[in-house]
Amino acid sequence: MNKKEIAAYFDKQAPGWDAHMVTDDAKLRRILDAAGVRPRVTVLDVACGTGVLFPYYLARDAARVIGVDISAEMARIAAAKLHDPRVEVLCADIETLPVHLRCDCAVVYNAFPHFEDPARLIGSLARWVKPGGRLTVAHGMSLAALHRHHAGRAEHVSREMLSPEALAALMAPWFAVDTALADEGIYLVSGQRRA
Ligand SMILES: C[S@@+](CC[C@H](N)C(=O)[O-])C[C@H]1O[C@@H](n2cnc3c(N)ncnc32)[C@H](O)[C@@H]1O
Repeated sequence: MNKKEIAAYFDKQAPGWDAHMVTDDAKLRRILDAAGVRPRVTVLDVACGTGVLFPYYLARDAARVIGVDISAEMARIAAAKLHDPRVEVLCADIETLPVHLRCDCAVVYNAFPHFEDPARLIGSLARWVKPGGRLTVAHGMSLAALHRHHAGRAEHVSREMLSPEALAALMAPWFAVDTALADEGIYLVSGQRRA
């Protein structure tokens, strides 16, 4: 699993991505509530793909949305979709991208298993979140479904997802984790950046 391979894999997936996307508004409401997305916040969408969550942030009156994705094709589609001055899309590796603003909410949606070193990712995201802001890692499926999904065709670009407890422990040095669960159709870990 290396980053060039990951970008190439998602470049290929990008054109058909939205056609296969199933969004569940009730789950997304739960995720965005936990993530603290509310009027006037600045959101960092980590590994944003084609920007499936952008309309949901804007519907909650986010002041600014920065989407970052390592796949040029994913980022191109995300940028072409919305022409809104509040949204900026960057094609970059989030782990090496210099921090140019500290955000209220960092959201990693359906993307965490594509990062090889979870502790390194959390450490780099901690730089982006303001004290009092939140980091949220979420999936619209259970942990068992995640294991099945990532052991399938995406195996060479994924690692096994951590349990919510293990992820909460990794986040704990920087974030006071108040939500760590994986049930029927959702995986959700979220915490507030310590000062
Ligand atoms: C399964 S897709 C999810 C996309 C989007 N969040 C969604 O739910 O539709 C995972 C995304 O992670 C991106 N990604 C993987 N490693 C990355 C990195 N180091 N920096 C930024 N994006 C990355 C991939 O390019 C891909 O678009």
